[in-house]
Amino acid sequence: MKKIIEGSAQITINEGVFFNPKMEGLRTLSVLFLKAFDAKGSLIDCTAATGVRAIRYAKEVGIKDVTILDINKRAFDNAVKNMKSNGIDTKAFNEDLQAFAGRYEDQFDIIDLDPFGSAAPYIQDILKISKNGSLLMITATDTAVLCGAHLSACIKTYASRPLHGEPCKEAGLRILIGYISRIAAQFNFGIEVLLSLSDLHYFRVFLRLNKGAKKALDSVKTSGFGAYCHSCQNFVVKKGVVPSLNLSCEYCTNSMDPFGSLWIGNLYDKRILKDMYALAEGDAKDHINILVNEEDIPLFYSLPKITRHLHLGSVSPNKIISVLHEMGYKASATQFGKEGIKTNANLSEIRKILKEV
Ligand SMILES: C[S@@+](CC[C@H](N)C(=O)[O-])C[C@H]1O[C@@H](n2cnc3c(N)ncnc32)[C@H](O)[C@@H]1O
Repeated sequence: MKKIIEGSAQITINEGVFFNPKMEGLRTLSVLFLKAFDAKGSLIDCTAATGVRAIRYAKEVGIKDVTILDINKRAFDNAVKNMKSNGIDTKAFNEDLQAFAGRYEDQFDIIDLDPFGSAAPYIQDILKISKNGSLLMITATDTAVLCGAHLSACIKTYASRPLHGEPCKEAGLRILIGYISRIAAQFNFGIEVLLSLSDLHYFRVFLRLNKGAKKALDSVKTSGFGAYCHSCQNFVVKKGVVPSLNLSCEYCTNSMDPFGSLWIGNLYDKRILKDMYALAEGDAKDHINILVNEEDIPLFYSLPKITRHLHLGSVSPNKIISVLHEMGYKASATQFGKEGIKTNANLSEIRKILKEV
Protein backbone atom coordinates (compact mmCIF):
# COMPACT_ATOMS: atom_id res chain seq x y z
CA MET A 1 0.00 0.00 0.00
CA LYS A 2 1.27 3.45 -0.97
CA LYS A 3 -0.01 6.92 -0.05
CA ILE A 4 0.18 9.82 -2.48
CA ILE A 5 -1.12 13.36 -2.87
CA GLU A 6 -2.05 14.55 -6.36
CA GLY A 7 -3.79 17.90 -6.74
CA SER A 8 -6.42 17.93 -3.97
CA ALA A 9 -6.64 14.12 -3.83
CA GLN A 10 -5.01 12.21 -0.99
CA ILE A 11 -5.16 8.55 -1.91
CA THR A 12 -3.83 5.16 -1.00
CA ILE A 13 -2.91 2.78 -3.80
CA ASN A 14 -3.53 -0.85 -2.95
CA GLU A 15 -1.42 -3.72 -4.25
CA GLY A 16 -2.47 -4.69 -7.80
CA VAL A 17 -4.46 -1.51 -8.50
CA PHE A 18 -3.42 0.55 -11.51
CA PHE A 19 -1.93 3.99 -10.93
CA ASN A 20 0.47 5.81 -13.27
CA PRO A 21 2.08 8.89 -11.66
CA LYS A 22 3.24 10.03 -15.13
CA MET A 23 -0.39 10.70 -16.07
CA GLU A 24 -0.73 13.41 -13.40
CA GLY A 25 -0.25 16.11 -16.06
CA LEU A 26 -3.06 14.64 -18.18
CA ARG A 27 -5.38 14.43 -15.16
CA THR A 28 -4.59 18.09 -14.39
CA LEU A 29 -5.46 19.07 -17.97
CA SER A 30 -8.80 17.24 -17.61
CA VAL A 31 -9.51 19.18 -14.39
CA LEU A 32 -8.64 22.46 -16.16
CA PHE A 33 -10.86 21.53 -19.11
CA LEU A 34 -13.88 20.88 -16.87
CA LYS A 35 -13.23 24.12 -14.95
CA ALA A 36 -12.88 26.18 -18.14
CA PHE A 37 -16.01 24.58 -19.57
CA ASP A 38 -17.82 25.30 -16.31
CA ALA A 39 -18.98 21.67 -16.45
CA LYS A 40 -21.91 20.76 -14.22
CA GLY A 41 -24.23 17.84 -13.60
CA SER A 42 -23.67 14.10 -13.20
CA LEU A 43 -20.24 12.60 -13.83
CA ILE A 44 -19.18 8.98 -14.24
CA ASP A 45 -15.60 7.75 -14.09
CA CYS A 46 -16.08 4.50 -16.06
CA THR A 47 -12.57 3.16 -15.39
CA ALA A 48 -11.91 4.49 -11.89
CA ALA A 49 -8.95 2.32 -10.67
CA THR A 50 -7.86 4.25 -7.49
CA GLY A 51 -10.61 6.85 -8.08
CA VAL A 52 -8.03 9.64 -8.36
CA ARG A 53 -9.79 11.33 -11.29
CA ALA A 54 -13.26 11.27 -9.72
CA ILE A 55 -11.81 12.69 -6.49
CA ARG A 56 -10.05 15.52 -8.33
CA TYR A 57 -13.16 16.33 -10.38
CA ALA A 58 -15.24 16.47 -7.20
CA LYS A 59 -12.78 18.46 -5.10
CA GLU A 60 -11.16 20.71 -7.71
CA VAL A 61 -14.01 21.27 -10.19
CA GLY A 62 -16.84 21.04 -7.66
CA ILE A 63 -18.80 18.24 -9.38
CA LYS A 64 -21.31 17.00 -6.79
CA ASP A 65 -23.01 14.05 -8.52
CA VAL A 66 -20.21 11.51 -8.96
CA THR A 67 -20.43 7.83 -9.97
CA ILE A 68 -17.46 5.47 -10.16
CA LEU A 69 -17.22 2.15 -11.94
CA ASP A 70 -14.51 -0.49 -12.17
CA ILE A 71 -14.69 -4.12 -13.23
CA ASN A 72 -11.83 -5.08 -10.94
CA LYS A 73 -12.85 -5.82 -7.33
CA ARG A 74 -9.56 -4.66 -5.83
CA ALA A 75 -9.72 -1.39 -7.77
CA PHE A 76 -13.37 -0.90 -6.87
CA ASP A 77 -12.72 -1.40 -3.12
CA ASN A 78 -9.68 0.87 -3.31
CA ALA A 79 -11.62 3.63 -5.13
CA VAL A 80 -14.58 3.45 -2.70
CA LYS A 81 -12.19 3.77 0.27
CA ASN A 82 -10.38 6.71 -1.33
CA MET A 83 -13.65 8.50 -2.14
CA LYS A 84 -14.72 8.12 1.52
CA SER A 85 -11.42 9.28 2.97
CA ASN A 86 -11.61 12.37 0.73
CA GLY A 87 -15.11 13.10 2.00
CA ILE A 88 -16.88 12.47 -1.32
CA ASP A 89 -20.31 10.95 -1.48
CA THR A 90 -20.44 8.64 -4.51
CA LYS A 91 -22.47 5.96 -6.24
CA ALA A 92 -20.15 3.04 -6.97
CA PHE A 93 -20.45 -0.01 -9.22
CA ASN A 94 -18.16 -3.03 -9.39
CA GLU A 95 -19.09 -4.26 -12.83
CA ASP A 96 -18.22 -4.39 -16.51
CA LEU A 97 -18.95 -1.10 -18.30
CA GLN A 98 -20.74 -3.08 -21.03
CA ALA A 99 -23.15 -4.69 -18.52
CA PHE A 100 -23.66 -1.36 -16.71
CA ALA A 101 -24.39 0.51 -19.96
CA GLY A 102 -26.68 -2.30 -21.14
CA ARG A 103 -29.13 -1.50 -18.37
CA TYR A 104 -29.60 2.04 -19.80
CA GLU A 105 -30.23 3.18 -16.24
CA ASP A 106 -28.51 6.51 -16.03
CA GLN A 107 -27.59 9.16 -18.51
CA PHE A 108 -24.62 11.25 -17.55
CA ASP A 109 -23.55 14.82 -18.32
CA ILE A 110 -19.82 14.05 -18.10
CA ILE A 111 -18.22 10.70 -18.95
CA ASP A 112 -14.56 9.83 -18.39
CA LEU A 113 -13.18 6.75 -20.13
CA ASP A 114 -9.55 5.76 -19.55
CA PRO A 115 -9.18 2.07 -20.39
CA PHE A 116 -6.11 -0.09 -20.90
CA GLY A 117 -5.19 0.18 -24.60
CA SER A 118 -7.89 0.87 -27.17
CA ALA A 119 -11.00 2.90 -26.35
CA ALA A 120 -12.79 1.44 -29.39
CA PRO A 121 -14.56 -1.49 -27.62
CA TYR A 122 -16.14 0.93 -25.10
CA ILE A 123 -17.40 3.72 -27.37
CA GLN A 124 -20.86 2.15 -27.88
CA ASP A 125 -21.20 1.67 -24.13
CA ILE A 126 -20.45 5.27 -23.22
CA LEU A 127 -22.82 6.49 -25.95
CA LYS A 128 -25.61 4.42 -24.38
CA ILE A 129 -25.23 6.32 -21.12
CA SER A 130 -24.94 9.72 -22.87
CA LYS A 131 -27.52 12.38 -23.66
CA ASN A 132 -27.75 15.57 -25.70
CA GLY A 133 -24.93 17.85 -24.55
CA SER A 134 -22.92 15.16 -22.72
CA LEU A 135 -19.19 15.75 -22.48
CA LEU A 136 -16.99 12.76 -23.31
CA MET A 137 -13.36 12.59 -22.20
CA ILE A 138 -11.72 9.59 -23.85
CA THR A 139 -8.16 8.27 -23.52
CA ALA A 140 -6.57 5.82 -25.96
CA THR A 141 -3.16 4.22 -25.42
CA ASP A 142 -3.17 1.99 -28.51
CA THR A 143 -1.17 4.73 -30.21
CA ALA A 144 1.15 2.27 -31.97
CA VAL A 145 -1.87 0.86 -33.81
CA LEU A 146 -3.33 4.29 -34.62
CA CYS A 147 0.09 5.55 -35.75
CA GLY A 148 0.55 2.75 -38.24
CA ALA A 149 2.99 0.36 -36.54
CA HIS A 150 0.40 -2.42 -37.04
CA LEU A 151 -1.41 -1.73 -40.30
CA SER A 152 -3.90 -4.61 -40.18
CA ALA A 153 -4.82 -3.93 -36.52
CA CYS A 154 -5.76 -0.33 -37.40
CA ILE A 155 -7.80 -1.43 -40.42
CA LYS A 156 -9.53 -4.13 -38.33
CA THR A 157 -10.36 -1.91 -35.34
CA TYR A 158 -10.92 1.51 -36.91
CA ALA A 159 -11.71 0.64 -40.56
CA SER A 160 -9.01 3.14 -41.43
CA ARG A 161 -5.60 3.01 -43.08
CA PRO A 162 -3.03 4.68 -40.78
CA LEU A 163 -0.25 7.04 -41.80
CA HIS A 164 3.09 5.54 -40.79
CA GLY A 165 5.18 8.66 -41.37
CA GLU A 166 6.21 11.88 -39.66
CA PRO A 167 2.67 13.29 -38.94
CA CYS A 168 1.49 9.85 -37.70
CA LYS A 169 0.44 11.07 -34.23
CA GLU A 170 -1.90 13.71 -35.58
CA ALA A 171 -3.28 11.33 -38.21
CA GLY A 172 -3.75 8.64 -35.52
CA LEU A 173 -5.66 10.98 -33.24
CA ARG A 174 -7.82 12.06 -36.18
CA ILE A 175 -8.50 8.38 -37.05
CA LEU A 176 -9.72 7.87 -33.47
CA ILE A 177 -12.00 10.94 -33.64
CA GLY A 178 -13.36 9.86 -37.03
CA TYR A 179 -14.16 6.43 -35.59
CA ILE A 180 -15.96 7.99 -32.59
CA SER A 181 -17.98 10.23 -34.95
CA ARG A 182 -19.17 7.20 -36.95
CA ILE A 183 -20.29 5.26 -33.85
CA ALA A 184 -21.89 8.41 -32.36
CA ALA A 185 -23.84 8.89 -35.61
CA GLN A 186 -25.44 5.47 -35.10
CA PHE A 187 -26.93 6.93 -31.90
CA ASN A 188 -27.96 10.11 -33.78
CA PHE A 189 -25.28 12.22 -32.12
CA GLY A 190 -23.06 14.72 -33.89
CA ILE A 191 -19.70 15.43 -32.24
CA GLU A 192 -18.15 18.78 -31.39
CA VAL A 193 -14.42 18.44 -30.77
CA LEU A 194 -13.38 20.72 -27.92
CA LEU A 195 -9.84 19.57 -27.14
CA SER A 196 -7.42 16.95 -28.49
CA LEU A 197 -4.19 15.93 -26.77
CA SER A 198 -1.23 13.84 -27.80
CA ASP A 199 1.59 13.28 -25.32
CA LEU A 200 3.80 10.44 -24.06
CA HIS A 201 2.00 7.20 -25.05
CA TYR A 202 -1.57 8.49 -25.11
CA PHE A 203 -4.23 10.34 -27.06
CA ARG A 204 -7.06 12.06 -25.23
CA VAL A 205 -10.11 13.70 -26.85
CA PHE A 206 -12.74 15.92 -25.27
CA LEU A 207 -16.05 16.05 -27.16
CA ARG A 208 -19.56 17.34 -26.75
CA LEU A 209 -22.45 15.31 -28.19
CA ASN A 210 -25.26 17.09 -30.00
CA LYS A 211 -28.42 15.14 -30.77
CA GLY A 212 -29.94 15.14 -34.27
CA ALA A 213 -29.77 13.21 -37.54
CA LYS A 214 -28.41 16.21 -39.48
CA LYS A 215 -25.72 16.87 -36.84
CA ALA A 216 -24.74 13.19 -36.94
CA LEU A 217 -24.48 13.22 -40.74
CA ASP A 218 -22.50 16.49 -40.74
CA SER A 219 -19.99 14.96 -38.30
CA VAL A 220 -19.52 11.85 -40.40
CA LYS A 221 -19.04 14.06 -43.45
CA THR A 222 -16.29 15.98 -41.62
CA SER A 223 -14.01 13.05 -42.41
CA GLY A 224 -11.84 12.48 -45.41
CA PHE A 225 -8.74 10.80 -46.76
CA GLY A 226 -5.18 11.83 -47.46
CA ALA A 227 -1.99 10.85 -49.24
CA TYR A 228 1.57 11.22 -47.96
CA CYS A 229 4.90 11.17 -49.78
CA HIS A 230 7.51 9.40 -47.63
CA SER A 231 10.26 10.82 -49.81
CA CYS A 232 9.67 14.60 -49.89
CA GLN A 233 7.02 15.10 -47.14
CA ASN A 234 4.33 16.32 -49.49
CA PHE A 235 0.80 15.54 -48.29
CA VAL A 236 -2.74 16.16 -49.42
CA VAL A 237 -5.91 15.88 -47.34
CA LYS A 238 -9.37 15.83 -48.91
CA LYS A 239 -12.76 15.98 -47.28
CA GLY A 240 -15.40 13.53 -48.43
CA VAL A 241 -16.79 10.02 -48.19
CA VAL A 242 -15.18 9.04 -51.50
CA PRO A 243 -12.80 11.87 -52.51
CA SER A 244 -10.58 11.44 -55.57
CA LEU A 245 -6.90 11.35 -54.66
CA ASN A 246 -3.98 11.64 -57.05
CA LEU A 247 -1.34 9.27 -55.64
CA SER A 248 1.49 10.55 -57.79
CA CYS A 249 3.55 13.15 -55.85
CA GLU A 250 3.59 16.46 -57.71
CA TYR A 251 7.07 17.30 -56.33
CA CYS A 252 9.05 14.11 -56.79
CA THR A 253 6.73 11.84 -58.85
CA ASN A 254 7.00 9.15 -56.15
CA SER A 255 3.93 7.12 -55.38
CA MET A 256 2.12 8.58 -52.35
CA ASP A 257 0.78 6.47 -49.48
CA PRO A 258 -3.01 6.80 -48.97
CA PHE A 259 -4.43 7.08 -45.45
CA GLY A 260 -7.86 7.46 -43.84
CA SER A 261 -10.60 7.81 -43.33
CA LEU A 262 -9.92 10.35 -40.58
CA TRP A 263 -11.48 13.41 -38.94
CA ILE A 264 -10.47 16.57 -40.78
CA GLY A 265 -12.46 19.06 -38.72
CA ASN A 266 -11.11 21.18 -35.88
CA LEU A 267 -9.19 19.69 -32.94
CA TYR A 268 -9.67 22.58 -30.51
CA ASP A 269 -12.16 25.09 -29.20
CA LYS A 270 -9.82 28.05 -28.80
CA ARG A 271 -12.13 29.84 -26.35
CA ILE A 272 -11.91 26.91 -23.92
CA LEU A 273 -8.14 26.71 -24.42
CA LYS A 274 -7.73 30.40 -23.57
CA ASP A 275 -9.77 29.93 -20.39
CA MET A 276 -7.69 26.84 -19.51
CA TYR A 277 -4.52 28.87 -20.07
CA ALA A 278 -5.73 31.58 -17.68
CA LEU A 279 -6.42 28.94 -14.99
CA ALA A 280 -3.26 26.86 -15.50
CA GLU A 281 0.10 26.94 -13.72
CA GLY A 282 3.54 25.42 -14.37
CA ASP A 283 3.90 22.59 -16.93
CA ALA A 284 0.18 22.62 -17.74
CA LYS A 285 0.42 26.31 -18.72
CA ASP A 286 3.36 25.56 -21.08
CA HIS A 287 1.47 22.65 -22.64
CA ILE A 288 -1.71 24.70 -23.16
CA ASN A 289 0.30 27.62 -24.57
CA ILE A 290 1.37 25.46 -27.54
CA LEU A 291 -2.27 24.50 -28.19
CA VAL A 292 -3.56 28.08 -27.88
CA ASN A 293 -1.13 29.15 -30.60
CA GLU A 294 -1.43 26.07 -32.82
CA GLU A 295 -3.10 26.67 -36.21
CA ASP A 296 -6.07 24.27 -36.39
CA ILE A 297 -5.21 22.92 -39.87
CA PRO A 298 -4.91 19.19 -40.70
CA LEU A 299 -1.35 17.80 -40.60
CA PHE A 300 2.04 19.54 -40.64
CA TYR A 301 5.48 19.59 -42.24
CA SER A 302 8.51 18.17 -40.44
CA LEU A 303 11.38 20.58 -41.16
CA PRO A 304 14.36 18.19 -40.59
CA LYS A 305 12.88 15.73 -43.09
CA ILE A 306 12.47 18.45 -45.72
CA THR A 307 15.94 19.96 -45.21
CA ARG A 308 17.54 16.49 -45.34
CA HIS A 309 15.73 15.75 -48.59
CA LEU A 310 17.02 19.04 -50.04
CA HIS A 311 20.56 18.51 -48.63
CA LEU A 312 20.28 21.71 -46.56
CA GLY A 313 21.51 22.41 -43.03
CA SER A 314 19.10 22.49 -40.09
CA VAL A 315 16.96 25.57 -39.48
CA SER A 316 14.97 26.80 -36.52
CA PRO A 317 11.21 26.22 -36.92
CA ASN A 318 10.59 29.61 -35.23
CA LYS A 319 12.58 31.36 -37.96
CA ILE A 320 10.53 29.71 -40.73
CA ILE A 321 7.28 30.44 -38.86
CA SER A 322 8.14 34.14 -38.65
CA VAL A 323 9.07 34.29 -42.37
CA LEU A 324 5.76 32.60 -43.23
CA HIS A 325 3.92 35.15 -41.05
CA GLU A 326 5.72 38.03 -42.81
CA MET A 327 4.54 36.57 -46.12
CA GLY A 328 0.96 36.54 -44.86
CA TYR A 329 0.61 32.78 -44.29
CA LYS A 330 -0.83 31.07 -41.25
CA ALA A 331 1.96 29.20 -39.45
CA SER A 332 2.59 27.76 -35.99
CA ALA A 333 4.39 25.11 -33.95
CA THR A 334 2.42 21.96 -33.13
CA GLN A 335 1.97 19.61 -30.18
CA PHE A 336 2.44 16.70 -32.63
CA GLY A 337 6.14 17.25 -33.38
CA LYS A 338 8.88 19.49 -31.94
CA GLU A 339 10.24 20.46 -35.37
CA GLY A 340 6.87 20.48 -37.10
CA ILE A 341 5.14 23.45 -38.70
CA LYS A 342 1.45 23.80 -39.39
CA THR A 343 0.80 26.20 -42.22
CA ASN A 344 -1.48 26.93 -45.15
CA ALA A 345 1.61 27.48 -47.33
CA ASN A 346 2.36 24.57 -49.66
CA LEU A 347 5.56 22.53 -49.86
CA SER A 348 7.05 24.50 -52.77
CA GLU A 349 6.70 27.74 -50.79
CA ILE A 350 8.32 26.17 -47.72
CA ARG A 351 11.16 24.79 -49.85
CA LYS A 352 11.75 28.23 -51.36
CA ILE A 353 11.95 29.83 -47.91
CA LEU A 354 14.30 27.09 -46.63
CA LYS A 355 16.66 27.62 -49.56
CA GLU A 356 16.70 31.38 -49.02
CA VAL A 357 17.16 31.16 -45.24
C1 LIG B 1 -5.88 2.64 -17.07
S1 LIG B 1 -6.80 2.18 -15.68
C2 LIG B 1 -7.60 3.67 -15.21
C3 LIG B 1 -6.70 4.64 -14.55
C4 LIG B 1 -7.38 5.82 -13.88
N1 LIG B 1 -8.37 6.44 -14.75
C5 LIG B 1 -6.34 6.82 -13.45
O1 LIG B 1 -6.28 7.96 -13.98
O2 LIG B 1 -5.54 6.47 -12.58
C6 LIG B 1 -8.10 1.24 -16.35
C7 LIG B 1 -9.09 0.71 -15.32
O3 LIG B 1 -10.23 0.25 -16.07
C8 LIG B 1 -10.74 -0.93 -15.45
N2 LIG B 1 -11.48 -1.67 -16.50
C9 LIG B 1 -10.97 -2.42 -17.51
N3 LIG B 1 -11.96 -2.95 -18.26
C10 LIG B 1 -13.13 -2.50 -17.72
C11 LIG B 1 -14.50 -2.71 -18.04
N4 LIG B 1 -14.85 -3.47 -19.08
N5 LIG B 1 -15.45 -2.11 -17.29
C12 LIG B 1 -15.07 -1.32 -16.22
N6 LIG B 1 -13.79 -1.12 -15.84
C13 LIG B 1 -12.83 -1.69 -16.59
C14 LIG B 1 -9.50 -1.64 -14.96
O4 LIG B 1 -9.83 -2.54 -13.91
C15 LIG B 1 -8.61 -0.47 -14.51
O5 LIG B 1 -8.75 -0.23 -13.13
